Amino acid sequence: MTGLGKDLVGLEPLSADQLRLILDTAEPFKEVSERQIKKVPALRGKTIVNLFFEASTRTRISFEFAEKRLSADTVNVAASGSSVSKGETLVDTAKNLEAMRIDMVVIRHGSSGAASFLGQRIASNVINAGDGKHEHPTQGLLDMLTLRDRFKRLQGLKVAICGDVLHSRVARSNIWGLTKLGAEVGVCGPPPLLPRNIEELGVTILPRIEDAIAWADALNILRLQLERMTAGFIPSLREYNRVFGVTTERLKKAPKDLLILHPGPMNRGVEIDSDVADGEHSVILPQVTNGVAVRMAVLYLLAGGRPGPQQAAGGEEA
Ligand code: CP
Repeated sequence: MTGLGKDLVGLEPLSADQLRLILDTAEPFKEVSERQIKKVPALRGKTIVNLFFEASTRTRISFEFAEKRLSADTVNVAASGSSVSKGETLVDTAKNLEAMRIDMVVIRHGSSGAASFLGQRIASNVINAGDGKHEHPTQGLLDMLTLRDRFKRLQGLKVAICGDVLHSRVARSNIWGLTKLGAEVGVCGPPPLLPRNIEELGVTILPRIEDAIAWADALNILRLQLERMTAGFIPSLREYNRVFGVTTERLKKAPKDLLILHPGPMNRGVEIDSDVADGEHSVILPQVTNGVAVRMAVLYLLAGGRPGPQQAAGGEEA
């Protein structure tokens, strides 16, 4: 299996071979961002629209860098300031953009399923940049690439996803992607913040943060998504930090050094202490760096690019 199909809506529909293809294609793209002229002609002539209907720093800017480094033409559309704020539907907005002859849409949306819904209704490639509580596939991929960089394997690696798993699209993409590539995944958080029947996805439930620290090779620490909480899921942020916060004190008791990941944005002093976020085992900023390479790989492959380092990252813009 060499292609990815038309859209990337999640990691659940992808095979292990397709996941490996994306990660392997991202490798040569890392080097492009280290060049003085950070540009290859791979997507020259393609037009990509970034439709961000929810706030984003990392994903939006990372996609834009990835597109520009592949020489695509890009347009950014936010809900505020577009006709969505006047009641236009998502599909009408996208069809109007298609009437201007676009090739790809990158979409972030508050509703689970929005990317898939759009992909079924327009001819352009659709890439999910995070849809509600469903999936955030490129975040899952960049987390996997960062883990593979450090451990040189994913098979058999123990990754604990800690925090607000219930509201997290990042958690779902990590679970699908990591388990397909042979990693063991644990989830840890207060019971109200763990989805019911989560163990059916093949993960181990780690009731206490101390259990996660004792079990894992790496912790992927999630933000409490207070904006998605419709009920009192936790007594207070201070209480959450006291019971589930990843602190230096707790990590000192680990049987080995743990790699620390966080998809951002972080709530320092809540799910993660600053000492840990900025500590020697943190790869939070390398995750962001890898995000550009992973997104370049996804854009390149969906546009029909052929796998292989020379094919992908070859050439330089004058
Ligand atoms: N990780 C992530 O999705 O961050 P943003 O919300 O800033 O894009």
